[in-house]
Amino acid sequence: MIVLGIESSCDETAAALVRDGHEVLASTISSQVQLHAGYGGVIPELAAREHLRNISPVIDATLEKASLDLNQVDAVAVTSNPGLIPALLVGNAYAKGIAAAKQIPLVGINHFIAHIYGAFIDHAELLAEAACFPILALVVSGGHTAIVVIQANGRARIVGSTLDDAAGEALDKAAKILGLGYPGGPIIDRIAKTGNAGAHDFPRGLTGAAGKAVKPEHRFDFSFSGVKTAMLYAVKDRSPSNQELADLVASYQAAVMDVLVSKTSDAARHFNTPVICVCGGVACNSYLREKLSEEAARIGRQLVLAPPKYCTDNAAMVAGLAWHYLRHQLSDDLDMPTSARLNHDLGIIPFAPQAKR
Ligand code: KG4
Ligand code: ZN
Repeated sequence: MIVLGIESSCDETAAALVRDGHEVLASTISSQVQLHAGYGGVIPELAAREHLRNISPVIDATLEKASLDLNQVDAVAVTSNPGLIPALLVGNAYAKGIAAAKQIPLVGINHFIAHIYGAFIDHAELLAEAACFPILALVVSGGHTAIVVIQANGRARIVGSTLDDAAGEALDKAAKILGLGYPGGPIIDRIAKTGNAGAHDFPRGLTGAAGKAVKPEHRFDFSFSGVKTAMLYAVKDRSPSNQELADLVASYQAAVMDVLVSKTSDAARHFNTPVICVCGGVACNSYLREKLSEEAARIGRQLVLAPPKYCTDNAAMVAGLAWHYLRHQLSDDLDMPTSARLNHDLGIIPFAPQAKR
């Protein structure tokens, strides 16, 4: 079964054709990064206008790459939540148009669950094994930072999340403060390699490191507003030299990533999960990938790092995940709503080995 996936929840217009959940026939991503760079963040209405301009050419290019036409597509899937509403509406209207015109099933996809699936596109074998469950997923992007536990029966719950900024947002905002450009994550990743991560002692939110005990209900939660404010003060009224800048960036990156690593490790042991998966745009970060690999080896867990091409927003994860709903005979009606919100109860994840309809 071939599924056409469409993604327009933020600033990427993407389409992909995926056969049976795992075989990616073609994947196209058109980024609007340059458009939003001058604002240091994504402007929803601008994003929507750009999606409208790009969506047709992106889908056409994807079909062409796979040497397919729309009549050979068995179902259409689209990110329907969470995301920027004006941006989501473009992809959703387009997908519904295709579903109605071609009389094929429509599947609305949760972007957050799609990011998790992105880590497993190339690891179908792990999803078939009940012994790999519960799986612990760290989802770290520009919009989300959360720890999710997925049971073999598909039940999935967010057990911790950020109380303020997402990790990617914390990196993007620091880059903005330092005048480094947008998006900040990849720039910080690069500059940090030339700096000393021990040069500055940036705060590690909700870890008890500042001598303040963490309330039990926040054990797996995150907070990145403090570290961002600390950066603001660190460079107030001064212009750092290149080396000072690299040291600041490396120390800041370490403060953000060390918390992600320590809380993920704590949660993997607490919930007794044999597999840890890491996904979302920030999962591209080389420091995070290295530190998590070391920690997973230390605590004896299998680490599944999403490949960089499926970390940032893409439609392969959308089309792939949709196949699992379809194999359980689940699809959506043409009046399917879009939503900006994310519930902590993620419902039943259809790719779990014992997921029931
Ligand atoms: O998943 P994504 O493409 O979009 C959202 O759903 O948010 O993630 C984008 C985020 C941005 O904050 C960007 O700065 C961050 O991922 N990012 C990185 C790296 N590449 C992208 N953060 C750290 N290191 C990277 N190499
Ligand atoms: Zn995303």
